[in-house]
Parts: sequence; structure tokens; C-alpha cells
Amino acid sequence: MASLLRLRSLSFFLAMVAVVVGTATAGGYYAPVFRATPWKQAYATFYGDETASETMGGACGYGNLFNSGYGTDTAALSTVLFNNGYGCGQCFQLRCVNSQWCYKGSPITTVTATNLCPPNWSQDSNNGGWCNPPRTHFDMAKPAFMKIAQWKGGIVPVMFRRVTCVRKGGIRFSFQGNGYWLLVYVMNVGGGGDVANMWVKGSKTGWISMSHNWGASYQAFATLGGQALSFKLTSYTSHETIIAYNVAPANWQVGMTYSASVNFH
Ligand SMILES: *[C@@H]1O[C@H](CO)[C@@H](O)[C@H](O)[C@H]1NC(C)=O
Repeated sequence: MASLLRLRSLSFFLAMVAVVVGTATAGGYYAPVFRATPWKQAYATFYGDETASETMGGACGYGNLFNSGYGTDTAALSTVLFNNGYGCGQCFQLRCVNSQWCYKGSPITTVTATNLCPPNWSQDSNNGGWCNPPRTHFDMAKPAFMKIAQWKGGIVPVMFRRVTCVRKGGIRFSFQGNGYWLLVYVMNVGGGGDVANMWVKGSKTGWISMSHNWGASYQAFATLGGQALSFKLTSYTSHETIIAYNVAPANWQVGMTYSASVNFH
């Protein structure tokens, strides 16, 4: 009898341990935070001029980068890093290394991915076709490049790593489409900076899954006109999910950008 009791209290003890460990794991799983990746090697070039006007309207769909808040600290990613648009919004630290063109002390600069550097198969991958797969390459806005190296260098070896995107304010949603087709460009994303999945909910609908269109845009074929809209997003890198309730009012319009009060960290 006594040994049976001991056995029972032992299994009760083990069950309690399992509960505590399970809770800790669940807590860690549901509140993940993006962490910087290890430094890796790549190369960097630049495009456009000092005004960075050529870098506006890139393949992520952020439009005018001054209006969307990214400014000139931006880069176009080679296909491998661009990852079909899921690389849009990600933040990278870059430093020039092992070149006479690097600035002294290899200063670090941070850029946001706003564009694709497309492959050019008529150029050799090691001689001009810098963005051809499988190369990891950054084609930086000229002002960003000029923070790490002399532009005369043209192409320089760099060390890079993903870092947390530090954004002021909440995620922004820029609307295109019409009352039956909503196309949303997602901007100012913090944390990992990227978006894996997205849902929209009108005041008269349940959650509707949105499909990835191109760059940083997501679409829903649904009748959403005249309804206040909420969004649910999952981070591509950290898998964190957040909900932004009633981001757009019932009288939302295409061409408008609406801000949430929440963001990833
Ligand atoms: C690809 O490279 C060739 C050869 O240098 C060049 O003439 C052409 O303009 C390039 N294409 C693009 C789209 O940049």
C-alpha cells in the first residue's frame, strides 16, 4: 500500500514536471522573437546615383521609399536572398572587408531589402552576373554603399547578417484593388521584417486567407467594400502571429495606407 502510494506520488510528480516543462516550451513557442543570424560572406555593388531615385519603386512594391519610410538605406537582393519576395522587408547589416576600397575600420551599415537584383545570364556569374543564382549578392542604393566603401571600388567583398528590423510605429497596409479584390502592400514590418501568411477579416466576414501576390503584397478575392478591416499576419522568420484589429475604417479606399498599432519585434 505504502509503495503504491509512493508510486502514485512519483507519477504525480512526473506529471507536474511535464506540465511545467510543457508550459515553458509553449510560452517559448508562442512568443518567439527574431534573433540576428551569424555573419556570412557575400559581395556588394551599388545601383542608381546619390539621389537613389532609381531605387524607388522596386520589386517589393514599396513605391516611393521616402514616402514609405525606408529612405536610401536599401538594397536589391539576388534571387537566392529575395526568396520569391519573402525576403522583402528583411534587414541586413553589411560591412566591407578585405578590399582597398573599404572604409577604415569596416563600418557597419543597415539596409532593408526593397528590390530584386535580377539574374543576367548573358554575363558570367563571376564577371558582371553578380546576382545570378546561387550567388548571395547585395546591390545597394548608392548612398548606402557609400557608407561602407568608396563607390569607385564598384564591387566589394562584404560580411553580412540578418538583424532585427527596428521600426517606429505599427505595420502599415497600403491598399490597391477594388471592392471585390483587395491587394495589400505590407510595410514598416518590425522584427524579422518579413511576412509569411496573411488573413483579412471584414466586419461581416470571418478570417479570409490572403495569397501572396508579388514582392510584399498579399491579395484576397472577396467582397470587402464598406466593411472595417482587420488583419492577421505571421512572420516568415519567427513564425510569430499578430492581429491588427480594425486597421481600416468601413469607408476604406484604394490608394490609401492604413497603420496598425501593433508590430513584430
Ligand atoms: C545583361 O548583360 C548584357 C551584357 O553586359 C547587357 O548588354 C544587358 O543590358 C544586360 N541586361 C540587363 C537586363 O541588365
